[in-house]
Amino acid sequence: MQTLQTTSLRVAGNQLFILDQQALPQEKRWLDASTVEALVGHIHALRVRGAPLIGLSASLLLALLAEAGKSRDELALALDTLRASRPTAVNLMNNLDRMKQALWQEDFVPALSAEALRLIDEDKQLCDAIARAGSELVKPGSRLLTHCNTGGLATAGVGTALGVIAVAHQQGKIANVWVDETRPLLQGGRLTAWELGELGVPYQLITDSMAASLMAKGLVDAVWVGADRIAANGDVANKIGTYQLAVNAMHHGVRFMVVAPSSTIDLSVDSGEDIPLEERDGRELLEIEGRRIAPDVDAYNPVFDVTPADLIDVIVTEKGIVERPDAAKMAQLMCRKRLH
Ligand code: MRU
Repeated sequence: MQTLQTTSLRVAGNQLFILDQQALPQEKRWLDASTVEALVGHIHALRVRGAPLIGLSASLLLALLAEAGKSRDELALALDTLRASRPTAVNLMNNLDRMKQALWQEDFVPALSAEALRLIDEDKQLCDAIARAGSELVKPGSRLLTHCNTGGLATAGVGTALGVIAVAHQQGKIANVWVDETRPLLQGGRLTAWELGELGVPYQLITDSMAASLMAKGLVDAVWVGADRIAANGDVANKIGTYQLAVNAMHHGVRFMVVAPSSTIDLSVDSGEDIPLEERDGRELLEIEGRRIAPDVDAYNPVFDVTPADLIDVIVTEKGIVERPDAAKMAQLMCRKRLH
């Protein structure tokens, strides 16, 4: 496969490397992810993370394994193992469904490479289209709040919610971004803060528990978040803490905006109740970077939550925007072509 480089994926000499998102921002460390075992380990440890990126990394690896001579049966097994690596983000399943179609073509080796590269290319274009569409909804002088990390680190392009913020910043419309640190793994504090710094976007880091009080003081104009899976009725699964932001935004009259490519929409699940929500090891709450911060107790660690559609003002996708989402509007959206 040709040499390839995105913010957090690299293909060189038939090997896949990932930028270790657990080492950032202290260290920019690239890790080998050229076997199923290695990539699944990185996905489990959130060294590779973010809904679009998980699917893209798995697709690239399958293509590379095919080029290295793995049989169709071995690749089918690899595909199933990768598919099971994280349960919530549906981009992984959608991307791998497309790779599976390529796998059943007679000439599956070039078909898999072409499909993986197409997915990367598409993701870049989707991010651009989404960022353009979303930025039109950002008012000059905006003070926005974002959660988790939805930038170039989590996609092959400029990102989703963070892509909107980056383009709105280029348009001179951002006064400040409040960055939720996003406990327990600090995707906001470590990754979003780093990306916004690189982009020169003005931001201030806050703890997740500060959002309601900032809204009450009138310091937040809109909340912009990404999504891991959007159900047919417009309910949104995203990083834990998103739901409480939506409740608080509704209470304070703050606009609540969700940004995702249409590959995040899963019409096969009727509502958020049917979305599998990952629960992770409680040690993630008990320790920070391997250092224990709590007594040796049980900890409950669901890492995603569901925001009901009726708390959402707008869902922005590459196919267009949906205001006050519901099942009929989501179904209509999925029939549309891409915006630009
Ligand atoms: O557990 P993570 O870090 O993979 O969770 C990521 C999120 O919740 C993001 O908001 C989502 O995947 C969108 S990334 C463009």
